[in-house]
Amino acid sequence: MAKTFDVAIEALESSPDAPGASGEILAAPARAPLPVAAGKSFFIETFGCQMNVHDSEKVAGVLLARGYHPADKAADADLMLYNTCSIREKAAQKVFSRLGEWRGVTHSKTIGVIGCLAQQEGEEIFERAPWVSLVCGSASYRRLPELVAELESGGKRVMGLDLDTDETFETEITRRDNRFRAYITIIEGCDYACSYCVVPHTRGPERSRPSDAVLNEARRLAGAGYTEIQLLGQTVNSYCDPSSRALNFSQLLREVAGVSGIRRVRFTTSHPNDLTREIIDAIDSTPVLCDHIHLPVQSGSTRILRDMRRTYTREQYLEKISWIRAASRPISLTTDVIVGFPGETAADFEESITLLETVGYDGVFSFSYSPRPNTSAGSMPDAVPEPEKSRRLAVLQERQRQIQAARNEKAVGETHGVLVDTHHASRNQWAGRTTSNRIVNFTSPRQNLLGEYIQARITRSGPFSLIGEELL
Ligand code: 5AD
Ligand code: SF4
Repeated sequence: MAKTFDVAIEALESSPDAPGASGEILAAPARAPLPVAAGKSFFIETFGCQMNVHDSEKVAGVLLARGYHPADKAADADLMLYNTCSIREKAAQKVFSRLGEWRGVTHSKTIGVIGCLAQQEGEEIFERAPWVSLVCGSASYRRLPELVAELESGGKRVMGLDLDTDETFETEITRRDNRFRAYITIIEGCDYACSYCVVPHTRGPERSRPSDAVLNEARRLAGAGYTEIQLLGQTVNSYCDPSSRALNFSQLLREVAGVSGIRRVRFTTSHPNDLTREIIDAIDSTPVLCDHIHLPVQSGSTRILRDMRRTYTREQYLEKISWIRAASRPISLTTDVIVGFPGETAADFEESITLLETVGYDGVFSFSYSPRPNTSAGSMPDAVPEPEKSRRLAVLQERQRQIQAARNEKAVGETHGVLVDTHHASRNQWAGRTTSNRIVNFTSPRQNLLGEYIQARITRSGPFSLIGEELL
């Protein structure tokens, strides 16, 4: 069984000057010791993607190493951090509305904004919310211990906004929230320049972690009881090992899958341009590599793809799909689609619908286009009116719901391996995911299944999940 969050904290509290007592020690660059702030508490609220979720785990690790302990709720924390997202306008607004909740409140709490919105808005955040005292973008997280120490010694406003770093964010301890599945960042930043996207501006240029650091982390996680690893990066499959081993992504996948004790390896997010036959061959021949690829297409129209600067056409994308479909092992596919990009006509939109029908995805994350600062699409003409964007989004989601319902129905009668990660006590049901990342809700006469791999026979299906019973 994996070490729990509570155990990790206990170990640190009993020995605050020995970070790493939790057993989840990561290779850390040598740095001068900073004074430790024992007794203070922190709370992190995370917005956005899995990269942000994992960044929060690492930031929590930095704070634990400094003697902080987690507070149960925001109101109780000495240090309140918002790890923010700015990919769409709504996500950014949500952060400002959260910050607004602290307006005029007299307290001794320190409030910090970290992540993508911090990078994008920089000093502006101090103007809009003067009660904030720390602003730090994700490309500067290496400096967090220093920034926090500056605050502790009386600093009123501290900022980390460098983007030109060629280093990645590694910490001595990472406090992981899930007891079975662990994230490992293998690549940070992004070198693409999709015209709608803030990420290259907020997370900086692409940098890959050396393969030995990734593999050592995987081994330590296996030793701590984790059995599923999810490799993370904005364009995870453009991984390029900076060490002398110079592994490419498919080689790294095979090596992580070979770590003793690891039963499942996932990865996200892949860029279609960097999806090679070698990656598909690795999945096809290595059962530990999960049979699922998330491959964002964004649009089914080559004209829109060109304006989005996605670097591929509809036909080139579909060719990669045909490679995946040719694998001997069925590989599940999911994607991201944006509707209402500037200039998207009814015919372009229809091409996105026909692409969903042609590919037959098992899941689609769909978004209404949101103009973002510092992006070239932000100033493009021919905006699609908001009500039309919403209409297209609803049409696309309904079509995909039907596609998924039909695909999931085919699973009825099949047996799938499930890693159990949830117990719904009120309905006496368990839930987990298949290797193809489908959710299975199931019943079992047994107790304490969390973290176990079970076989479930699928008895019913819906568009978003499968229902079954444990096969004993
Ligand atoms: N508007 C709408 N959706 C966006 N995404 C990225 N930028 C925008 C934007 N400006 C979507 C893409 C990406 C996912 C993480 O968010 O589909 O793959
Ligand atoms: Fe954004 Fe494109 Fe990079 Fe993905 S590949 S993070 S959409 S710029």
